[in-house]
Amino acid sequence: MRLFFSLPLPPEPQARLQTWMGAQGLLREGLPLQLHLTVAFLGEVAPELALTAARCGAESAARHGAFALTSGPVGTFPRRHGAQVVFLEVAPLAPLVALAEDLRQRLGVAGVPADPKPFHPHLTLARLPSGRPLPEAPPAETWTVDRLHLVESRLSVDGARHESRFAWSLARA
Ligand code: 2AM
Repeated sequence: MRLFFSLPLPPEPQARLQTWMGAQGLLREGLPLQLHLTVAFLGEVAPELALTAARCGAESAARHGAFALTSGPVGTFPRRHGAQVVFLEVAPLAPLVALAEDLRQRLGVAGVPADPKPFHPHLTLARLPSGRPLPEAPPAETWTVDRLHLVESRLSVDGARHESRFAWSLARA
């Protein structure tokens, strides 16, 4: 199964961003909007290792408390074949970076391979042809992160559907 650790955007900010994305022509038909911040991407994982990954998630969540995040400007990552990923920056605040580093370190020690790219917190909005003009950022959203999810990404012809398989409260007082 294809897995990643995720901090999903709560429903209210997601609904506001969905309205804004609709006005910008950024919404795709056929898939629910699944705005989230990826903390660690594992990719294809054998079932035994998925349970090891889940243990790492539980341990990290128990050692970190809830925190707030705020969306920032629009950014892009280049992709192959003239496409780009359009996203909203999320400031790499200390509690977020601490959670991501702790989790990635635990995964490494436990032998669960994760994407080694440096952590660049963002909310992906859309994949677009490069060169298409970018929108101005929407009004900043601030939300509370209080749960860490291990999510399965199921690929289909119209895109990936995300299903939370495990979730843990960020429980440190
Ligand atoms: P994204 O956050 O830029 O959209 C599921 O695919 C999630 O994991 C998406 O949020 C995706 O990118 C993120 N991700 C991180 N590294 C990835 C990789 N190497 N391949 C696919 N998705 C990756």
